[in-house]
Amino acid sequence: MIIAIDGPAGVGKSTVAKLLAARLGWLYLDTGALYRAVAWKTLQSNILPTDREQVVRLLPSTSLHMQFQNGAVQVLVDGIDVTGELRAPDVTTAASVVSAIPGVREWLLPIQRQIGQRGSVVAEGRDIGTRVFPAAPYKFFLDADANIRVERRHRELVAAGRGETIEVTHQDLSDRDLRDRTRPIDPLVPAPDARSIDTSTLSPEQVVELMISTMSTGL
Ligand code: DC
Repeated sequence: MIIAIDGPAGVGKSTVAKLLAARLGWLYLDTGALYRAVAWKTLQSNILPTDREQVVRLLPSTSLHMQFQNGAVQVLVDGIDVTGELRAPDVTTAASVVSAIPGVREWLLPIQRQIGQRGSVVAEGRDIGTRVFPAAPYKFFLDADANIRVERRHRELVAAGRGETIEVTHQDLSDRDLRDRTRPIDPLVPAPDARSIDTSTLSPEQVVELMISTMSTGL
């Protein structure tokens, strides 16, 4: 069983997906973490994220695993736990760049689908309902006013001790949005059968309630 949640950065996807997974007792699959892991390996190997050929050449010798323990998720690249490094600003930007490379998306596709076979999963990302799990019975597309997304993301960054200015957060979010929405392969678009939810004025708990009531009444 899969619940697919897609949407742009700063919309509250991760918070909502985690809450929903905890509530249902299902696995939470953060597919962005997999793109971030590829970005981490790229930077670690001194390869520019824009150098598509070199990035794709890294992949066959890379091992990538997600471990689930007591609700926490660990990401292992070549056996190293890189979970704590995946949210660094340079990794965030590089993830957005490498995620536009078709070879990277192809390589990550079976990895995501294999995780989907480990049990019931709440999966979140950009192309879950359109590409990774197109047959998911429940699909949601979250969106929110751009300024609200910037404020939310900025609060998160400050809470995590990364005190950049709100202007920098704004620019970073706009750049990522544009790249995610306009890339030729698997761009961020709602699946035709996804239920759209505007989270601008809703708390994460309210979004989860809305999802649960949508699922119990059928989409
Ligand atoms: O959700 P996130 O911010 O952790 O994602 C990091 C980057 O990975 C984001 O810029 C877009 C990309 N991504 C993607 O292209 N497809 C997904 N299913 C998930 C993330």
